Amino acid sequence: MKFFVDTAEVDEIAELNDLGMCDGVTTNPSLILKSGRDILEVTKEIAGMVDGPVSAEVVALKAEDMIAEGRKLAKIAENIAVKVPMTWDGLKACGVLAAEGTMVNVTLCFSANQALLAAKVGATFISPFIGRLDDINIDGLDLIDDIRTIYDNYGYDTQILAASIRSVNHAKDCALIGADVMTAPPEVIKKMANHVLTDKGLDAFMKDWAKTGQKIL
Ligand code: G3P
Repeated sequence: MKFFVDTAEVDEIAELNDLGMCDGVTTNPSLILKSGRDILEVTKEIAGMVDGPVSAEVVALKAEDMIAEGRKLAKIAENIAVKVPMTWDGLKACGVLAAEGTMVNVTLCFSANQALLAAKVGATFISPFIGRLDDINIDGLDLIDDIRTIYDNYGYDTQILAASIRSVNHAKDCALIGADVMTAPPEVIKKMANHVLTDKGLDAFMKDWAKTGQKIL
């Protein structure tokens, strides 16, 4: 499973990228706000840091305006994926941008039918938001499972980009279901390394090592 990092904080991206754990980056208007940076400037910086796709989101609501914004964002770098919302206008914009050879990420997906439509218009990525469905007592992972089945039934090559990942269990379950990509905040990716028995075992080894009186270096 590919790991995209869901942030516009360049230091956090750099750390994960150096470890080989950043196959791409996703941003959105809220993450740009949080970064305090100019969208064009920070997107260019991120796109220069990582080899994989960097999603930058349009903010227009009408298809023709989304297309104009998307074309401008796509010019920033070759690895830009233009993010459009899962609306009828967003689907129109996706179709035009995809036909021009631009990677398109259709975001704010909350149903399997929405994902089916995005695949029909040639989206590179579909972004189902797991956490926000969980927030309203709907199992977000069921949506990932349904989309996986539909895409596999018909051989769509749109990639399932599991988004709104809030926990390490979300990450594990997306991998089990077969999401192509997950995009998660850096803190969730780092928490995947944690286990209480690892900490306990290491503590015991350190205590025994101290008793040997030895040194490796
Ligand atoms: O990738 C989408 C993500 O940024 C939304 O996450 O936690 O605000 O639902 P969240």
